[in-house]
Amino acid sequence: MSVQIHTHADRGAAIKAVAQEIASLVRTKPNAVLGLATGATPIPLYQELVRMHREEGLSFAQVTSFNLDEYQGIPREHAESYWTFMHQIFFDHIDIDPSRINLPGSQVPVDDMTAHCATYEAKIVATGGIDYQILGIGRTGHIGFNEPGSPADCITREIHLDEITRQDAVPAFGGIDQVPTSAITMGCGTILAAKKIALMAFGEKKADIVRKALQEPITDLISASFLRNHPNAAFHLDPEAASVL
Ligand code: F6R
Repeated sequence: MSVQIHTHADRGAAIKAVAQEIASLVRTKPNAVLGLATGATPIPLYQELVRMHREEGLSFAQVTSFNLDEYQGIPREHAESYWTFMHQIFFDHIDIDPSRINLPGSQVPVDDMTAHCATYEAKIVATGGIDYQILGIGRTGHIGFNEPGSPADCITREIHLDEITRQDAVPAFGGIDQVPTSAITMGCGTILAAKKIALMAFGEKKADIVRKALQEPITDLISASFLRNHPNAAFHLDPEAASVL
């Protein structure tokens, strides 16, 4: 049991490989449960899946999706919410049943937070668990928004965003004051319960954290390092992200 490392010829090849895995899963198991990520990394993956839907008849009609995370304190319709991102980039262009789309709420009242997160977690379990989880990796080594200090068995909960993560979101939000300070995220335990996991990392900026996640001791300071304990997890890299391994 060791994490697979695929260094592809370029990011396009990595995207194609992951898209093919998702397509063959959805073709053999039409009611597959997909764990989805946002951020820059998976945008071309969603574009490729939309292309496969349009040109190759790939149907998501019976698929259930769970997104990893959502910012807190902004309306769901905010341009930078993950609800908006997912609809604009993916859901609005495929045949997924809107009732099978799941994201954490973006304005969950403090008093409802515990129940909201527990319901999200329970719904994942009730659907039979995530068959295929897509991940990116943050500069803090986070998967989902499991910032440094998140234990391997943590579940869906509200988390305070690391300052590095907030800085990385400044260009999108237009200023640090506009960047939310917290989010709801699936936990490391939620993610590690997925049957198959594909982490994608592209570009030189990810090289150092990829090396730490794969080659330094497994630690809750880098939640991506926990993937090395998963029986079916793969890192899909381009040559730049793999350049210091
Ligand atoms: C997104 C998420 C994050 C991102 C990570 C990398 O849903 O959970 O872990 O995957 O911050 O973001 P990008 O792809 O923008 O570098």
